[in-house]
Amino acid sequence: MEERKIETTYTVYAHVGELEQAEQTLMQKAAEARDKAYAPYSKFNVGAAILLSSGAIVTGSNQENAAYPSGLCAERTAIYYAGANFPNDTIAKIAITVKSETTAVNSPASPCGACRQAIAEYEFKQKQPIEIIFMGETGEVYKVNSLTTLLPFTFNSSYLKK
Ligand code: THU
Repeated sequence: MEERKIETTYTVYAHVGELEQAEQTLMQKAAEARDKAYAPYSKFNVGAAILLSSGAIVTGSNQENAAYPSGLCAERTAIYYAGANFPNDTIAKIAITVKSETTAVNSPASPCGACRQAIAEYEFKQKQPIEIIFMGETGEVYKVNSLTTLLPFTFNSSYLKK
């Protein structure tokens, strides 16, 4: 037997102003989307903004439901919108930010497992990595160069091929 190790590398920015200008703009779009979240149950607003290869930006926010599991996270709202409306565009980056009505979020909140899997599908489809940039309402910003950094051993369609 042997042990194998997986290491994760991510970049830490002290605050959003340290990002390159285009990424600051993308994060600003995520913050604007966050303010449109429908989150009456959790009071936890999430916004996501996706930069496409064409330069277009699409956004999404979490949409909750009285039947709780029927709600959807911001990241999947945004990426499914991108997939549905721009099926031939490559997804370059996703910026994510959160804001809670009940507590200050001053450190990065990373995408949930289901959203990671959804992002993985598009990264595998386009054969190009998707950068993910995420933060709380304020504070440090984390950036990873590929979804697989957040989800090692990613399940993808290669396993389904005969
Ligand atoms: N949420 C997101 O939108 N994205 C995530 O990655 C984690 C959680 C939403 C779902 C729910 O509306 C609220 O945040 C609290 O879990």
